Amino acid sequence: MAAPSCCRKMAASGLENGEDAFRMIFRFYKKRNPPADLSSVIDFSRGDSRVRPVELSVGALTDQDALRAGLQSLDRWKAYGLEGYPGFLFISNPFLPGWQHRWVRQCLKSYPRKPNVCNLDLHMSPEHTVDLWESSKEQLRRKAPNRRSQKSVLEKLRWVTLGYHYNWDTKKYSGEHQSAFPGDLAELSRCVSRACGFPAFTPQAGILNYYHMDSSLGIHVDESEPDRRSPLLSFSFGQSCIFLLGGPSRELQPTAMLMHSGDIMVMSGPSRLLYHAVPRILSFPGGGLLPPCLSEPPAGDPSDPCLVEPCSAQEWEVCAQYLRDSRVNMTVRQVLEEGGSFSVAQDPAAPMSRVSKEDEYHLEDTEAAGEEEVGPNLLVKRKKSF
Ligand code: OGA
Ligand code: MN
Repeated sequence: MAAPSCCRKMAASGLENGEDAFRMIFRFYKKRNPPADLSSVIDFSRGDSRVRPVELSVGALTDQDALRAGLQSLDRWKAYGLEGYPGFLFISNPFLPGWQHRWVRQCLKSYPRKPNVCNLDLHMSPEHTVDLWESSKEQLRRKAPNRRSQKSVLEKLRWVTLGYHYNWDTKKYSGEHQSAFPGDLAELSRCVSRACGFPAFTPQAGILNYYHMDSSLGIHVDESEPDRRSPLLSFSFGQSCIFLLGGPSRELQPTAMLMHSGDIMVMSGPSRLLYHAVPRILSFPGGGLLPPCLSEPPAGDPSDPCLVEPCSAQEWEVCAQYLRDSRVNMTVRQVLEEGGSFSVAQDPAAPMSRVSKEDEYHLEDTEAAGEEEVGPNLLVKRKKSF
């Protein structure tokens, strides 16, 4: 887990000021003016000496099941491990060309709908959150590039929870606050977990994160799931990001890597409970408005075997407009071990407060207000500890 030389000096000076090594590097990559040097950030699609290809067991997923989820056949997947991080797997965009579009449409149109829960439920009356897609689509379609215009409600969406709904205040899941986990996402997750050697994985909770170019995700460990033995799956769509993967303590320097549209991460075994964060969203390198894998029109027809219906040209117009300056991330978790239940000793679910603690986790850029205003303990306070 060697730190890039650019960060080593900075980390040394920060540590003298009592700042932990993870936070130093988080701040380094979050900075936009001047932008951080990205030369030591791992790009799995380009190769790196810290990265090694991993052979997946081809029999673990049939071509038919892969196709149903919009995925390439398993023999075409490019999977990688990372030196010093056993249990961490990175899969470079295994989606079929033109088929990520369907998952993006689900994230923007279907998954924010009731009975799923979103950040806007805490601040807005139910009639305004009943269908974010319907109330935003025309506004998004008309949105002029590079013009500051009033944000649609969809652009105010920060998170959606699925299945067992994560409670941001108690930092717990409970049997009382649960809705059906979407069948299509469950199937996609099972395809990925089977392919990666976790045939027993049961998707039970999802947290979807919606980022814009000035968003970041604070340093945290996902430790709220009583079942820590199952992997955590993470899917990325839209613009790219820098993802920092650290160690079991914040004193260890994290490794920076790029996550592009379609990429999937699996955190399992010794990597399941490591600190991580997203300090920065980046436009896909190359300057196009959308990454090439999303620039094609959506593929497929209603009779194809994919379990998600095709994304129409009109729907994609709205999604594409949204993704010009956004990234969507879906994380899927197993909460309880097979046959497990929530312990009776658990606190009752806290009432939903209007100002949720989630505001401490999904961070908006502070640079406009002056980076110096980020006090020494702010990120510690803002840490989301799952
Ligand atoms: C999370 C998470 C990372 C990402 O939701 O817990 O770590 O890539 N997301 O957005
Ligand atoms: Mn996480």
